[in-house]
Amino acid sequence: MKYKETKIKNLRQLNIFAKEFLQKILSSEKKGARVVGLIGSLGVGKTTFVQLLLKDLGIKEQILSPSFLIIKSYEINPKMRSRIKDSAFAKATADKQGLRIFHRVFHIDAYRLNSEKELLALGWEEIISNPHHLILIEWADKVKKILPKNSFQLQFSFGEKKNERAISTSPSRLISKAS
Ligand SMILES: Nc1ncnc2c1ncn2[C@@H]1O[C@H](COP(=O)(O)OP(=O)(O)OP(=O)(O)O)[C@@H](O)[C@H]1O
Ligand SMILES: [Mg+2]
Repeated sequence: MKYKETKIKNLRQLNIFAKEFLQKILSSEKKGARVVGLIGSLGVGKTTFVQLLLKDLGIKEQILSPSFLIIKSYEINPKMRSRIKDSAFAKATADKQGLRIFHRVFHIDAYRLNSEKELLALGWEEIISNPHHLILIEWADKVKKILPKNSFQLQFSFGEKKNERAISTSPSRLISKAS
């Protein structure tokens, strides 16, 4: 599968991209969790993207970079779930492919991990086996060996102007080829 690159001019456009991406990952394909690897240099916008996505899922807590924790998780409570289910964008997805309902989102920062083993020790296998889990993982290229084959990969890069970015989308099995 080919990379698809999207040019982002500012935070407003990143917000639109996040909404469209959410629609894509809500489609059901029920094998295990939905894993999204976020790749790109320091300060390129990985955490900012996670914050926008979580806001769209109705998570109101302040989302900090989880660096110091490695894994932070947020519940999507039944009220939030039904709100997502009833939203126009979820309906469009449901009609086409069926809808996946997330119960919990995991925000992982792999930056300070030295090996895949450290993530395995934090219960990785169990986390990725649940189809109600959404896993957003910054610096996913550090743990590429243990990412499920059906993960998504978003590669962020800086643009010419201050707030410009480019995002390439592809399945994660290409991470190893790309890096
Ligand atoms: N179009 C844009 N997309 C994303 N971030 C942007 C954009 N324009 C400006 N920014 C700013 O760039 C910064 C991105 O920081 P952020 O913490 O999200 O990066 P990161 O990739 O998570 O870094 P790290 O590797 O340290 O975790 C934020 O201050 C954000 O407001
Ligand atoms: Mg970050």
